[in-house]
Amino acid sequence: MPHTMNYPNLQICVLAAGKGKRMRSQLPKVLHQVLGKAMLDHVLHTVEELHPKGIAVVTGHASERVIEHVGPLKNLEWVHQDQQLGTAHAVKQCESVIRDVQDVLIVCGDTPLLRSTTLDQLVKQHRQSNADITVLTAKVSNPKGYGRIVRDEHGGVKSIVEERDTTPEQALLNEVSSGIYCVRFEVLFNILHQIENHNAQSEYYLPDMVPIGLRQGATVSSLLLGDVDEMMGVNDRSQLALAEEGLQQRIIHEWQEQGVTIEQPHTVRIEASVSIGVDSRICAGAQLLGSTHIGDGCVIGAYTVIQNGWIDDEVNILPFSHIDRANVGAKAYIGPFARLRPDAKLDEHVHIGNFVEVKNAVIGRGSKVNHLSYIGDSEVGQDCNIGAGSITCNYDGANKHKTVIGDRVFVGSSTKFIAPVSVGDDATIGADSVVTQTVNAGGLTLSKRGEMQYSPNWKRPVKDL
Ligand code: UD1
Ligand code: MG
Repeated sequence: MPHTMNYPNLQICVLAAGKGKRMRSQLPKVLHQVLGKAMLDHVLHTVEELHPKGIAVVTGHASERVIEHVGPLKNLEWVHQDQQLGTAHAVKQCESVIRDVQDVLIVCGDTPLLRSTTLDQLVKQHRQSNADITVLTAKVSNPKGYGRIVRDEHGGVKSIVEERDTTPEQALLNEVSSGIYCVRFEVLFNILHQIENHNAQSEYYLPDMVPIGLRQGATVSSLLLGDVDEMMGVNDRSQLALAEEGLQQRIIHEWQEQGVTIEQPHTVRIEASVSIGVDSRICAGAQLLGSTHIGDGCVIGAYTVIQNGWIDDEVNILPFSHIDRANVGAKAYIGPFARLRPDAKLDEHVHIGNFVEVKNAVIGRGSKVNHLSYIGDSEVGQDCNIGAGSITCNYDGANKHKTVIGDRVFVGSSTKFIAPVSVGDDATIGADSVVTQTVNAGGLTLSKRGEMQYSPNWKRPVKDL
């Protein structure tokens, strides 16, 4: 953010009551996610950056669900719109919660790419030009679905015509309304009360503020957006995908500016709440999701997926690994094809190799689990070596049990730990052991093995051809 914004004189109204019919979804439209974050959360985080006097969010369709999702936020008031009779009707519901402000900034809950700096510019221009109504507009190549900006012979905004109400000539206009307005508080509700619903959708249209305001001598101004993507309104699933694409490009560009290398950027997914340290390299097809953090100097291998993971500095993750709510310590070496499940906590310099699964387990500094193992509900100390195919048998069909392994333990291949069980420091467990009872520190533990049969003169039968 280039500078701190502060608008103690501004009220913000976010319109989020619509069902979003065109999404064809059980989920209210504004809760659909764009890069891992609900559209409404994107918009709320953006408007919060203005530090306004208050934020009123109009909900209606599935309002309990929306309110529960957002949770408590500073300065936020919920306003209920019983029936969704249109955007002007939605703003009217806010009348009782707005007082003592200069202007009201109206924003839709379905524009997730909007930037706070743009809103800042809109309010500034509105105030500098001493306008009563200022609308944010954009020139787009495909105006489909948007309200068209109709200008008079002097270039002033004359009206905003919804697509369904346009004449064929108006339909061709490519300057459209973002649905975002800054309106002088003094005039807003007076104008809103005069809006009628004589239109194709029988709805109370907010854009009708313009002709009504003009008739009463109000000044209408507009601000043309440079980055058209910002005003993208998401009404259906294909626009949702377009919004993701637009935001993804922006986020990737921002990480590149911060010193992150991203290979084949169009193949990579980096969600909105992810953080990445300098000199990290994100390889093709990688997905960094949720609140994932990547430290400095890491390599995230191709097609690796990390969801809500914490990856410390200089970690090397080889391709096709899957990490979900796990912590990886500095300089660890993971994969390829490793699976770290929730509450796996790996210390520094740990090695986890191919086809190894770790769940709810702490693995101490420098320990190695390199091949085909399962470590679950366990504590493994420092500098251990867990041989290929070793498994903690943590589940008895009803309950989970714990395996505790000390420091510098050597575990031979194909060992089974029948939990609950513990192994002391410096112990050695021979290959193919089944550990069913406590192993004390030091010494060698070996399960009784079947005797090896050896027939030096045996001839393997030969297949008749
Ligand atoms: C709206 C604008 C259009 C603009 C476009 C920009 C109107 C009539 N049209 O069209 O000029 O170009 O946004 O994206 O304003 N909502 C309510 N209550 C309602 C109706 C809508 O809260 O009764 C909310 C919706 O949840 C949504 C927002 O208002 O977040 C906009 O409604 P939507 O149906 O998406 O309008 P558009 O057709 O996109
Ligand atoms: Mg919309």
